[in-house]
Amino acid sequence: MNCASCPVASATMGDGFHTFMSSGTFISFEGIDGAGKSTHIARVADLFRQAGRAVVLTREPGGTPLSEKLRELVLHEAMDPLTEALLMFAARREHLVQVIEPALARGDVVLCDRFTDATFAYQGGGRGFDWQVLAELERMVQQRPVDDATTGHAGQAGYTPEANHTPHARHTREGGYPSLRQPDLTVWFDLDPLIAAERLASARVPDKFESQPAEFFAAVRAGYARRQAEMPGRFARIDAAQSIDKVGADVSRVVSDWLQRSAA
Ligand code: TYD
Repeated sequence: MNCASCPVASATMGDGFHTFMSSGTFISFEGIDGAGKSTHIARVADLFRQAGRAVVLTREPGGTPLSEKLRELVLHEAMDPLTEALLMFAARREHLVQVIEPALARGDVVLCDRFTDATFAYQGGGRGFDWQVLAELERMVQQRPVDDATTGHAGQAGYTPEANHTPHARHTREGGYPSLRQPDLTVWFDLDPLIAAERLASARVPDKFESQPAEFFAAVRAGYARRQAEMPGRFARIDAAQSIDKVGADVSRVVSDWLQRSAA
């Protein structure tokens, strides 16, 4: 498909990045600490920009001034597990309302360094916090804008609990709640926690999560595997133990393949 607004399309047609998309694209990047997501997220952003797409590069917890304040608290203060989970979701709600939904409504590409799968993996898997409670919080926080949930077009209306119960809601999402906002694609950098620990040992001063033992990260990894098993359609697992170039090539390929599939 040709994209008239894209100056580089003719030179590199055939990679999914040039695929015309009429609505926004939401991609999240996940993995245990030390899996090496950051470099690759920046590369994916470049590929989309070269293809003429507007990119919003953001992260969780964080992404808005308030959510960044919550990030500081949650990454550095000891707290009760429910408080930790609630703060993650509070930061997410703000991020969705202020940044992610408006960007998707504009048709932008949102690349998010971690999203809700991290809560299930870290608070659910790592901390052993109740999975069902997290699912309830997810349902509360990730209601899609009512116009989006009913017509497929993002609207200005904000979020309404009723959106989940409308008879017109599109049943396109996995996980039982069709009108929940989820990433369209989640790139999971999967890595053995022992390799991740070696990588982190030479890195900066660890935060609250990074200083956890390898067993914690084994449980986080199992949490990601459980999420993937629950929603296989949107997950792409990358073997993050490979060389940085191979990981980069795999990331480009899964994003490109997904773009082509979703445009077909
Ligand atoms: P990370 O994304 O790795 O950022 P940086 O590269 O700056 O360290 O750090 C965020 C940390 O927060 C990471 O250890 C995972 C954790 N986290 C949760 O525990 N739950 C969540 O819901 C999210 C989004 C992150």
